[in-house]
Amino acid sequence: MCENAARRPIGVFDSGLGGLTAVRELRRLLPCEDIVYFGDTGRVPYGTRSPSTIVEYAKQDIAFLLSKRVKAVIAACGTVSSTLPAHVSSNLPVPYMGVVESAAEAAVLATHTGRIGVIGTPATVSSGSYPAAIRKLSPSARITATACPLFVPLVENGYFDEHNPVTRLVAQDYLKDVKAAGVDTLILGCTHYPLIAPIISSVMGPDVTLIDVGRAAAQRARRMLERAGLLGPEGRGSVEYYVSDSTEQFDRLAHIFLGEYAGGSVQRIEIDSYTLTLAAP
Ligand code: DGL
Repeated sequence: MCENAARRPIGVFDSGLGGLTAVRELRRLLPCEDIVYFGDTGRVPYGTRSPSTIVEYAKQDIAFLLSKRVKAVIAACGTVSSTLPAHVSSNLPVPYMGVVESAAEAAVLATHTGRIGVIGTPATVSSGSYPAAIRKLSPSARITATACPLFVPLVENGYFDEHNPVTRLVAQDYLKDVKAAGVDTLILGCTHYPLIAPIISSVMGPDVTLIDVGRAAAQRARRMLERAGLLGPEGRGSVEYYVSDSTEQFDRLAHIFLGEYAGGSVQRIEIDSYTLTLAAP
C-alpha cells in the first residue's frame, strides 16, 4: 500500500451511537489515526430487522464511508458483523472487519470453565455468529446465547445509569438463562452494551468476565492495519462524526460513550443517497 493510503482515516460505523464505544478504544490504542464515524441514528435499531434490510442499510453505510476515502472499514456493530455476507465484505476496495471474531478470541482466552455466554440483538443471536466463531477456536465450549431487544432502545434513550431501576429489572429478566448456565465469561455482543456493563456485572456477579466487543475489535484493528502497512504516521488523530438524524441526540449522549475522548465535529447526512459498488469478485 502506498504511503498516502496510510494517511487516510479509518471508517467506523454502527446503527447508532453504540459504535462510539469502539471509537473510544480506537482513540486509546491508535491516538495518531484519523477516524470517520457514521451512526445511522435515523434508522436505529438494526437488530430487530430482517437480514436483507440490515444488509441493505450496511451497504449504504459502507458506501458513505468509502466516499470519505477511508483506508479500512470497521463495522462496530454486532448486528452488521453477524449479518453482512462474505461476498460483500471480501469485495470491498479496502480491508473490512467486524466485531465477532475478535470477541470470540477474547472470550476463549478469558474463560476457565469453557462456559461462555453471549448476549446481543435478536438478529445477532439468531445468526449464530458468535457461537460459530467460538466453536472454531474451542470446539468443546458450552455456549448460551440470549437476545436482549430492549437494551439498545434503553441505551439510546439514556437509561444507562448504574442504578436505573428499569434497566436493572430488564437485565435481571434477560440474564436469567446465562446466569443459570453458570457462564464465567459473557460476551456483550452489541456495541451498545458496555454502557450498561455495571448493571450487567452486578446482575451476573463479580466472578463473570465481561467481554467488550469494541475493545476487542480495536485491538484486532491495530493488528490488521499493521499487517496491511496501513498504520498512520505520527500525529494527533482527529474524528469526524456523521449521523442520519438530527445531531441533537449525538450532542446530548456522545460524551457518555466516548468519555475522555469526546470532541470533534458532527454533521447530518442523507444516507439513502449512497449506493455501494462492489469490486468485481
Ligand atoms: N450496536 C449494535 C450492535 O452492536 C446495534 C444494535 C441495533 O441497532 O439494534 O448490534
